[in-house]
Amino acid sequence: MSLTVLVVGSGGREHALAVALSRDPGVASVHVAPGNPGTWAVSSQYGVSTGSPLWTRISSVDPLDGEQVASLARELGAGLVVIGPEAPLVAGVADRVRAAGIPCFGPSAEAARLEGSKQFAKEVMAAAAVPTARSRYCETAEQAESALDEFGPPYVVKDDHLAAGKGVVVTTDRAEALAHAIACRQVVIEEYLDGPEVSLFVICDGVRGIPLLPAQDFKRVGDADTGPNTGGMGAYCPLPWVPEGFVTHVMDTVVDPVLAEMNSRGTPFQGLLYAGLALTSQGVRVVEFNARFGDPETEAVLPLLQSGLGQVLYAAATGSLTDIPELTWDDASSVVVIWAADGYPGTVAKGGRIAIPALDDNATVIHCGTALDDQGGLVSHGGRVLAVVAQGSDLTAARDNVYQAVDRIDFPTGFHRHDIAQRAAAGLIPTPPIQGQ
Ligand code: AMP
Ligand code: GLY
Repeated sequence: MSLTVLVVGSGGREHALAVALSRDPGVASVHVAPGNPGTWAVSSQYGVSTGSPLWTRISSVDPLDGEQVASLARELGAGLVVIGPEAPLVAGVADRVRAAGIPCFGPSAEAARLEGSKQFAKEVMAAAAVPTARSRYCETAEQAESALDEFGPPYVVKDDHLAAGKGVVVTTDRAEALAHAIACRQVVIEEYLDGPEVSLFVICDGVRGIPLLPAQDFKRVGDADTGPNTGGMGAYCPLPWVPEGFVTHVMDTVVDPVLAEMNSRGTPFQGLLYAGLALTSQGVRVVEFNARFGDPETEAVLPLLQSGLGQVLYAAATGSLTDIPELTWDDASSVVVIWAADGYPGTVAKGGRIAIPALDDNATVIHCGTALDDQGGLVSHGGRVLAVVAQGSDLTAARDNVYQAVDRIDFPTGFHRHDIAQRAAAGLIPTPPIQGQ
């Protein structure tokens, strides 16, 4: 097989997907559109040591325009299109690409509602008897007040629309919770779930799913999980503390029932089902679903995959995952640390200068929000700017490697967390039950 792949998107997830796809001997070329300076670079000039010479620079495509994406795929002779972010999926770009007869990895607009509407996800979970937090859908201040009082603190208030990971407020301050509910208008208010969170990515062909290694994301902006929620400040994989049988349990109680429910609705889920899970004292509960690879977990998970990613995504896009042998993984650990721009997750200034030296082979810099200035210099162009990724024989080694690389990057107007994977590496996360106590 000699596959040409078009990856749609311009963030860290798409850059990481492109790096992983270029390692697949069955993939002849990878194009990322619109891409970013990381995916455009074929040298190590911007810190991309694994950039494939097969990549090309394409920047003139609107990822939200299905016709544009389909015609670019046709022009490139792409045998597979991979849609990275949620916005094009919710806008139906995968439907357009499939309608043009091109295999596409990414759910239809209908199936992407699992991410696009928190309330829709709750309905599907209720119909499929999938364990999740009890919740109320609220459209008025009165409804919100009554839901807040029903569940009590800590309060969890979720915007019912896409909000780039920033629509959720978790707080013990009732006034703050109510203000968020009023500002968002349509919200889901739910009970608070205690226990560590796990992100499980499952590659789905509409009928069955193949899970990747579980990962953990760090959502809060500050060390020791302080400050507001972000899109994710770091991640690691695998998780030494998850109970035995965890992945099988989640496939049986969460993923398979959801795939069956989506099928019975006539809207099969083909693409990446991302289950955000809380391992509570009552057992595993779904925190949320996403319809695409998570960022930055993808940057940590994919480097450990030995199997060819292109083959697996192609099989999912063509409904033939049964043909895929069991995935194989490196017996190593992987840690990713995000360099964010000052002010994130609030308003950030663009244009902060960044210098990335040549790094050792065991560290990679993935570009999330960068741009080139008029002189061709690398500058920041978003909240999350770079994802620094490294592997090691265990989490301690991977942390040492990644923080050495993080410290060598010069980004005066940026910051990062210092404690990604620290508690897990020190063995401080107790193994929770999966069935409840
Ligand atoms: P979501 O966008 O639904 O993933 O929420 C973002 C983050 O908010 C999650 O990763 C959790 O850290 C937190 N969160 C969401 N729902 C709950 C909940 N019911 N209980 C506790 N924390 C939550
Ligand atoms: N890592 C969180 C997300 O991708 O939504």
